[in-house]
Amino acid sequence: MLIPFNRPFASGKEFEYIQQAINNMHLSGDGPFTKRCQSLLEQELNVPKVLLTTSCTHALELAALLLDIQRGDEVIIPAFTFVSTVNAFVLRGARPVFIDVRPDTLNLNEAHLEPLISPRTRTVVPVHYAGVGCEMDMILEIAERHGIKVVEDNAHGLLGKYKEKSLGTFGCMATQSFHETKNFTCGEGGALVVNDPRLVERAEIIREKGTNRSRFFRGQVDKYTWVDIGSSYLPSEILAAFLYAQLEAREYIQTLRQRIWDYYYEHLRTWAHDQGVQLPVVPIHCKQAYHMFYIVMSSLEKRNALIAHLKAKGISSVFHYMPLNVSEMGKQFGGKPGDCPVAESVCDRLVRLPFFNELTESDQAIVIDSILEFGD
Ligand SMILES: Cc1ncc(COP(=O)(O)O)c(C=O)c1O
Repeated sequence: MLIPFNRPFASGKEFEYIQQAINNMHLSGDGPFTKRCQSLLEQELNVPKVLLTTSCTHALELAALLLDIQRGDEVIIPAFTFVSTVNAFVLRGARPVFIDVRPDTLNLNEAHLEPLISPRTRTVVPVHYAGVGCEMDMILEIAERHGIKVVEDNAHGLLGKYKEKSLGTFGCMATQSFHETKNFTCGEGGALVVNDPRLVERAEIIREKGTNRSRFFRGQVDKYTWVDIGSSYLPSEILAAFLYAQLEAREYIQTLRQRIWDYYYEHLRTWAHDQGVQLPVVPIHCKQAYHMFYIVMSSLEKRNALIAHLKAKGISSVFHYMPLNVSEMGKQFGGKPGDCPVAESVCDRLVRLPFFNELTESDQAIVIDSILEFGD
């Protein structure tokens, strides 16, 4: 491909930090680089605890374990999200209840939330799609009134804000992704943001195979032992060293990404308006995280034709999630076509354009010209 959809980026210090991690003779998890990443994020987000994990998927699993999700519990999940959002809870025996998304931001439609709540509902998982905040005021108000926990899937939204407050700091917990396609990466990685201080100690235990090893290393107990259920969600120091370089360069990376996003938006705006193509919507009270740029075409046929047209020109563009309610697994949980009409329609029509830190303006101009030439 002439212009790929994504290209991994190194900010410059990655190899130096990996070398330091090797020199430190500490390659397993929770070494100096893990601690640096965690405290940088804790300060940036102003939260009590961040724990690096091996992926956002694992951070979501950790969150479901921490909430003691049991068989028969219900968890409200947007139909338009990645499978990990729902799998983490289904693995604990929960029944997913799919909620449709808003036609503008493609985020969970908060107006549909209350009618989906039953006595069995334990959790709702807002996903800040494309790093644009969900309507957290209303979601939190409804959740609190019904005694439901909020876990934000913030895989896309690190450094985004809703009404001046960082995404990932609204729920009792939030999950981050550092997968290769994300703004800040270590290839595969993630984090659990623990906003409720009462959950911190148990989060450390579950992440450390159900042992109180973290307390032992802090000198709070004289030996460590098996105290709870758990698994191994710690990334190695090599990954944390790579990630620390990326997190240190966060402002630079965000400047690059903002330029790319703004350039697409400016140059596609008139065309999109004329052709009835939907561009991303960022409400005035949201500061987006500049994670991706997508367009929503008028039909599935046009979307597929555009992807094929761009491919013929050496440009890689991709669709995104399939609606979970009509997936094979979703149907087993009672999902059926028509339950989430917005998600079902948008999934068919959405296309993501090449978006990576080093995408040049001249390459973007090629992508834009090719789109304008295609029409709708
Ligand atoms: C909304 C959402 N949640 C979770 C994940 C899983 O992230 P990871 O690959 O870090 O497990 C993704 C993946 O892109 C995602 O889009």
